[in-house]
Formats: sequence, C-alpha cells, structure tokens
Amino acid sequence: MGKVLRIGHRGAAGHAPENTLASIEKAISFGADLVEVDVQRTSDGHLVIIHDKRVDRTTNGAGSVSGMSLRALRELDAGVGQRVPTVEEVLQTAHGRVGLILELKAKGLAEQVCKTVQLSGFTGQVIYASFLHDEVRAIREVDSQAMTMALFGRLPHDPVMAAQNAKATHIGFSYITVTQSMIEICHQRGLVAFAYTVNDRQDIETVMSLGVDGIVSDFPDRL
Ligand code: G3P
Ligand code: CA
Repeated sequence: MGKVLRIGHRGAAGHAPENTLASIEKAISFGADLVEVDVQRTSDGHLVIIHDKRVDRTTNGAGSVSGMSLRALRELDAGVGQRVPTVEEVLQTAHGRVGLILELKAKGLAEQVCKTVQLSGFTGQVIYASFLHDEVRAIREVDSQAMTMALFGRLPHDPVMAAQNAKATHIGFSYITVTQSMIEICHQRGLVAFAYTVNDRQDIETVMSLGVDGIVSDFPDRL
C-alpha cells in the first residue's frame, strides 16, 4: 500500500474556524499533504471560500453568499477575526507549501475556478471536487489534464461508473459508506479513492485499513 494522503478538511476545522486562512495555516503546520476548502461565488462574481449557501452559521452576518457582494462579505467575521477568504488568497497562502482540493459548491463555477487557478501560477497539486458531477465533467472540458474528484454522499448503484461518467480521476466517499471491495474496484478501474470526513482515531485506523489513498479530516494531525 502506498502512502495515505493526509488531507485537512476546511483547513484544519477541528482547530480553527473552518475555511479561513488561519485554518489553512493550521493544516500546513500539521504537515498536511492537501487542504480541502469549499468554493462559492458572490453576487458580483468573486470566488470565495465558504461552505454553506448562507453566511449565518460560520460568520456574524446573515444572508446568502450569492446575494452578497465581496465587499459586504469581507466585512463579516468568520471566527476569531478571520475574514472569508477569496480563492486567490487561498492559492497564494498554499503556494509552495501544500496542495489543494477545491470543492465546487454551486453550479456553473467550473470554468471560473479552473481559470483562476491557471492564472494564479499555483504550482502545487490541485484536485477539483464536487457532489455536482456536471461541474466535475465541466472541469475536464476546461483542462483535459486536471485532477477531478466525484464526491458521493449516499452511494448510487455503481459509484465507479458514475465517477467515470463525470470523467473524474478521483472518487470521494463518505467514510460511513466505504468498503474494502469498493476501494479495490476503484483501483482496478484506475480511480484514486479518498474517504471523508474521518475525525475519530478508531475510525481513522479502520478506514486506513481499507486501502484508501487519502483521508480527509478536521484533525489532520491525527492522520
Ligand atoms: O471532501 C469532501 C467533503 O468536504 C464533503 O463534505 O459537506 O464537508 O463539504 P462537506
Ligand atoms: Ca467540502
């Protein structure tokens, strides 16, 4: 078995406010191989890092991200004085230090996210991920060489075929659903398999033993 990649979830969300630069810094300090963050778009077309469609849970504001300008969003506190970062800021912070999983949380982001990465000069590993498999496929159309991950919550009848239909290189399973035989099938079909979001130490050991290629955790220091 190769090295299992250690992936910080929303930065290192167990240690710092999720999806902030402070959280990414934490993940880097733990030696994570990759940092996963969530991408949405503001009303004036800026790509920002925030998980929910609304700002309410993770900031001191209220309202939908897509209905708010970047300027208004940047006035909010995302925890311990952190601001909601832009994708450009995250690329700058990670440059030369850690790879990124950029999870596309809304429809129609693929081309802009991909172009933003290309223009940034970021040289590390980037994996574009989404539960929205049309977005995963759209990334492939913009960049034929891109690494892309089809994410699954509840599993369809044939997740491997679904990932391949999305032209993905990677497949992301909830750790609750993943099995050793599923991982073996992924590997036979040339797909890299990650499991999310594994926080409990016993669960981490169990998931590791299944042969996954990477584990996403709020606590990358536990991996
Ligand atoms: O890496 C996949 C994982 O981040 C998906 O779930 O809800 O945390 O974005 P969620
Ligand atoms: Ca995510």
